[in-house]
Amino acid sequence: MADRLAQWSEMQGGLTCTYFSNAHQAVAQDLRTWMRSAGLRAEIDAVGNVVGRYESTAPGARTLIVGSHYDTVANAGRYDGRLGILTALVVAEELVRAQQQLPFHLEVIGFAEEEGVRFSAPYIGSSVVAGRFDAALLQRSDSKGVSLGTVLHEHSVDLTTIERLARRPQSLRGYLEIHIEQGPQLLERDLPLGIVTSIAGAVRCRIAIEGVAGHAGTVPMALRHDAAAAAAEIVLAVEQRCAAVPGLVGTVGQIEVPHGLINVIPGRCEFSLDVRATDDTTRDAAIADIRAAIEEITKRRGVTAVITEIARHSAVPCAPAMQQAFAQAVARAGIAPFHLASGAGHDAEQFAGVTDIGMLFVRCGNGGISHNPLETITADDADIAARVLLDVITNLH
Ligand code: GLV
Ligand code: MN
Ligand code: MN
Repeated sequence: MADRLAQWSEMQGGLTCTYFSNAHQAVAQDLRTWMRSAGLRAEIDAVGNVVGRYESTAPGARTLIVGSHYDTVANAGRYDGRLGILTALVVAEELVRAQQQLPFHLEVIGFAEEEGVRFSAPYIGSSVVAGRFDAALLQRSDSKGVSLGTVLHEHSVDLTTIERLARRPQSLRGYLEIHIEQGPQLLERDLPLGIVTSIAGAVRCRIAIEGVAGHAGTVPMALRHDAAAAAAEIVLAVEQRCAAVPGLVGTVGQIEVPHGLINVIPGRCEFSLDVRATDDTTRDAAIADIRAAIEEITKRRGVTAVITEIARHSAVPCAPAMQQAFAQAVARAGIAPFHLASGAGHDAEQFAGVTDIGMLFVRCGNGGISHNPLETITADDADIAARVLLDVITNLH
């Protein structure tokens, strides 16, 4: 199923599937078709989430959501996000086939947007369902200058319906997510599954350095105010500061000299910054030090910096009860329960504080690589993950 979904892509010879592209809409159609074939009532909601529902007959039943995302980064692997939707889907199919009565409604949700690629805003799909959507994002534009509001309008979305997609916390039994680990820990321990303890919080910034453009052949080195050279020094300062603390990571994933030319000293350089840690205090201390380093570097080089924070997400714990439910099911599957923190962001974090969240990681092959076409898992591991999820759902009250 993941292979079939990966055929829908915005690029030749690789997988890119960003919010509301043609590929993205084709994936949504496939997911809805599969959910309906599995016996779920399935619809695509106003913001592109694919929602499949298996109703409980229990009076006053709440809803258990099991979901993940179907958008991807550029040149992505085929399991990041999608494994979680497909695992939930096959488990729901099994429950329907067995006519298993549950004390809660079960919803399988394929969230439309988690990676934040198109609008530099992650969690568009899950924030809407969790009731955390930030309406200011409607003004945010993609790289072609098209705003999120315009994109939704083009797809005939009545923006006032967005608020109505939010679930009431009291109506929820919990939120579960299966996801690939995107790291090497399970592989190194020879374990197929791991129970997630917490999800790291990220701060993301855009930084613009303004220097002075000039002739590459005539301006002596000592007289230059090279914006790209300043940015390079800042990138190394980020690397050095974040490498000093276990569990802290910092990344400059985009860097650009706008209108740069081979024979012009860079007058401007723009780059991104993503800093994460398992606790917000460690992360914020690093951000403060990075800001001080930027101040020192730019002053010394006679350039200026404008730092714009574009996203801030707190680290969140997974509910102890959900961790225990996963641990017991993992043990019943004959696997030693192993707990680990998530360095990556996940849709689950949007539901923290709204309902109990739980996450189960599945081992990645190829050294644990992800956000890379080399990302891989085994069918056996996916099978065990599905059995554990089925066990958790059937034993949850
Ligand atoms: C999402 O994959 C993120 O953690 O950046
Ligand atoms: Mn991802
Ligand atoms: Mn993901």
